[in-house]
Amino acid sequence: MVVFGTRPEAIKMAPVILALQKDDRFRTIVVNTGQHQQMVDQVLEVFGITPDFNLRIMVEGQTLNQITCGVLDRLDPVLTSARSRPDVVLVHGDTTTAFAAALAAFYQKIPVGHVEAGLRSGDKFSPYPEEMNRILIDDLANIHFAPTELNRANLLKEGHAGEYIFVTGNTVVDAMKYTVADSYKSRWLKDGMCNVLLTMHRRENWGRPMASVFRAVNRLVADFKDLNVIFPMHLNAKVREIAREYLVASDRVQLVEPFGVFDMHNVLERCSFAMTDSGGIQEEAVSLGVPVLVLRDTTERGEGVESGILQLVGTAEQSVYDAAKRLLTDAFLDARTGKGAEIYGNGKASQRIVEGLYDSLLKVAS
Ligand code: UD1
Ligand code: UDP
Repeated sequence: MVVFGTRPEAIKMAPVILALQKDDRFRTIVVNTGQHQQMVDQVLEVFGITPDFNLRIMVEGQTLNQITCGVLDRLDPVLTSARSRPDVVLVHGDTTTAFAAALAAFYQKIPVGHVEAGLRSGDKFSPYPEEMNRILIDDLANIHFAPTELNRANLLKEGHAGEYIFVTGNTVVDAMKYTVADSYKSRWLKDGMCNVLLTMHRRENWGRPMASVFRAVNRLVADFKDLNVIFPMHLNAKVREIAREYLVASDRVQLVEPFGVFDMHNVLERCSFAMTDSGGIQEEAVSLGVPVLVLRDTTERGEGVESGILQLVGTAEQSVYDAAKRLLTDAFLDARTGKGAEIYGNGKASQRIVEGLYDSLLKVAS
């Protein structure tokens, strides 16, 4: 059983689901908790995936407890029904859907496989609540699919040495094999301009941090006349309120609805750089060779920082302004190499996960 509920989980689990569905050794049950509605539907359409169950837990402005209780409550009957009780539950990453689904499976003594295991920022509250979700999921899981050696080392440090750990690469690179296309044409990118993708949504950035980043963006747009900022706004009302209050929208600051994953990957590939607090976009940009200013104080994607493609700049107005200015002026040519790094894999993570799952499943279940 593959469980997901939010946009990034759907994007990164889609290639795993497609690989499992093609494989006769498995019967795959797909569960969407519905933590996100429209933003997950956009993804499922692109990959042609129809969930067997949609738990429809989303409510406007939901709290962490509402998500957790909603998943625990509505997943349990699916886990216990004779028709759908699985041999293993696969969850992804660090969302509250992933944590609550892992807990629900554990309570039913069903083995858990964790895709994108072992990422750590080292700070319980950054990202919040994702860092704690990941730690708890890794404690609940029996099989860990770690994207990188660094992630594996994190798991070993925390005492998971006796468990199944497979280093697989990140499935987001597999997802991009379905989406990135040479023929793509966009109405948001402007020829001859410096196109920059901006996204922000993290809970710890709500309020002042977001406002100060948006102030920096306003100054940059005023100072650099060839700058075109594209901001697909998350559907969370809090994020949209702050963006509308602080960002000065114009033909060079485009506040648009969330992109479908096809537009997103193709726009990102063609941008000069990105400014984001997203986890997934950090990995995608590294693979595509697009420099990123990471609008956070910590990152669990240390490999990307080491490669020089990711720069951790925080959210203070002046630091964001200075870092972007450097990219827009002399350092820009050096930074945009156009060459992606295979740090997060080469598009074969899903197949490795399927093989690892098969090898370990019978032993774990017995
Ligand atoms: C969630 C995850 C976060 C992940 C992010 C990806 C948790 C606690 N947070 O945060 O780890 O980085 O997804 O985007 O698991 N909404 C809609 N339609 C949608 C999606 C969201 O209207 O399709 C609105 C709803 O009012 C919802 C709110 O956004 O209550 C917040 O959604 P929620 O999943 O709680 O938080 P995210 O910030 O999206
Ligand atoms: N994404 C998308 N449309 C958007 C913004 C992001 O398809 O408007 C994709 C992005 O390419 C990446 C994933 O969503 O694959 C990341 O999701 P998000 O930033 O919401 O969450 P995070 O990765 O931070 O958990």
